[in-house]
Amino acid sequence: MRLNKFLSTSGVASRRKCDELIIQGKIKVNNLVVKELGTIIDEKKDIVEFDGKIIKLPLDFLYIKLNKPKGYICSAKDTKGRKTIFDLVKIPNVRLFNIGRLDYDTEGLLLLTNDGDFAQSIIHPSFEIEKEYYVTIQGHIKESELAVLRAGVVINGNKLPKAKVEVLKILKDSNQQIKTRLSVKIKEGLNHQIRKMFQGIGKEIILLKRVSIGQIKLGGLSRGDYKKLSSKEMEILTKYKNTK
Ligand code: URA
Repeated sequence: MRLNKFLSTSGVASRRKCDELIIQGKIKVNNLVVKELGTIIDEKKDIVEFDGKIIKLPLDFLYIKLNKPKGYICSAKDTKGRKTIFDLVKIPNVRLFNIGRLDYDTEGLLLLTNDGDFAQSIIHPSFEIEKEYYVTIQGHIKESELAVLRAGVVINGNKLPKAKVEVLKILKDSNQQIKTRLSVKIKEGLNHQIRKMFQGIGKEIILLKRVSIGQIKLGGLSRGDYKKLSSKEMEILTKYKNTK
């Protein structure tokens, strides 16, 4: 196995960052510093060290789907002391990574794995996996506003990517206020992409929820619950994995 793949699969960093660590002489193989990119190791026999620690591949790969509630941050630690997704998903002796992110205030489908290399690669835009979100906004939305969302909202001269947008439902809350629920499908996953799109047309988002990543669906998973991907979902994920 290539040394950078070994390091990223073990969760050290992305392959690109692992290449930098190798060039900087921070990685040892069998007690010797290795600086050559493209170094091949025998992952069953060779001893790889980074930062004075022996790096090991996970014994079994684990893939999980979580229904992230609002009010949880997608990171291992938070400087502001907020709750993190790892307060919800705790598996003894398994170091998990989230595959992509959802904002603190966004809920819905989030995938997690202990396969660091895969977690880093599938979030790359070149994978072009379509993600579907349900977006609930206050009030109605006009056809002209839908057209702007579909064509790509321009903010400060920068055009956001196009999106597939459909109205799903008009709702009334307990105060008889009108709300609109939409389906928004995007491929990119830029920072706050959907929130920016709606800000761009002057609409306030009340609820943002991811319901699918490619063919993997949130389904009936309750808020805060998680489960292992089924064998069918694993087949789908493996297909994505093998396209790169
Ligand atoms: N777009 C956003 O604005 N936020 C998310 O959490 C996901 C997509």
